[in-house]
Amino acid sequence: MARVLTGIQSSGRPHLGNILGAIVPAIQLIEQNSKEESFIFIADFHSLTSQKDGAIRKQNTLAVAAAWLAFGLDIEKTVFYRQSRIPEVAELSWYLNCFAPFPMLANAHSFKDKSSRLADVNAGLFTYPVLMAADILLYSANLVPVGKDQLQHLEMARDLASTFNHTLEEEILTLPEARIAEDVMTIPGTDGQKMSKSYQNILDIFLPEKELKKNVNAIITDSTPLEEPKDPDTCTVFKLYSLMASPAQTQALRAQYLAGNFGYGHAKKELLDLLLTKFAAERARFDFFMNHPEEIETRLIAGEEKARRVALPLLNRVREKLGFL
Ligand code: ADP
Ligand code: TRP
Repeated sequence: MARVLTGIQSSGRPHLGNILGAIVPAIQLIEQNSKEESFIFIADFHSLTSQKDGAIRKQNTLAVAAAWLAFGLDIEKTVFYRQSRIPEVAELSWYLNCFAPFPMLANAHSFKDKSSRLADVNAGLFTYPVLMAADILLYSANLVPVGKDQLQHLEMARDLASTFNHTLEEEILTLPEARIAEDVMTIPGTDGQKMSKSYQNILDIFLPEKELKKNVNAIITDSTPLEEPKDPDTCTVFKLYSLMASPAQTQALRAQYLAGNFGYGHAKKELLDLLLTKFAAERARFDFFMNHPEEIETRLIAGEEKARRVALPLLNRVREKLGFL
């Protein structure tokens, strides 16, 4: 029996990278794993590392929740909650901070990457992996489905758990395992780099059609003239299309690239049509939930009650062991 747990930050609107890299594989894993309850949460504490505006965070939290529900998260089998509503996670995070070696955090790829790109390099960004470890360890999760970019964070969570257990000479924390969807690569953003809420390069599949069209048109392509053949393998539009299309559709688009007389504008139109047809039902459900936030709220509150019942006993064991009870 394995307990599945994963989270997505509410630092921006949920995007195609989150959907293909996290939401869809996690929902599949939850379905295969019907025996035990899974934990899905919105990492709103984490979002404070990059987003300081409370009203925006609230909206993003709703949008991330609506995306999970739109893609069919079964809340009967899932504990679905906001990270911040079980603030005990911050307490566990502090304890774990005191077991986290400074060089481990200083060498984290994502910290180095973010600190070179972002203007606001704060201590929260630095200890981000420790709070993430607390998210996982507080609920004794076994399997954590994430995108490849999170693998190092998962290794840190394992290291922290094992250092903690070893130092205190008791197996209190469960060592989690990452579950990477191997067939899902890192989804590129409109600039060809990793799609991320922090990089203003997202494809937001829940936008109204007109805006989605603008969003697709913003994908950066090279300047090969219309009549010339184009290389599908270096084109972000083609990459995104092939991640969602059938093999036959992908073959057909590849042939058009290679044949010439097929411009990037045409390719973008194909991508837009694919997004609109493939995600028609999810787009409609997303709109429903965003227009009925109370439907989201009741589901989250039910999850938060369940989450607290699991978190407290573990935290009390840790408190006791560390001499705080
Ligand atoms: P962001 O980078 O947009 O802030 P998060 O860090 O909140 O996204 O990521 C939430 C989940 O979505 C993680 O499991 C992460 O691996 C996955 N994810 C985010 N961006 C991508 C991407 N471009 N490709 C694949 N998976 C992604
Ligand atoms: N750090 C993750 C990301 O950026 C989000 C996250 C926070 C998470 N806590 C987690 C994912 C715990 C899995 C488990 O993608």
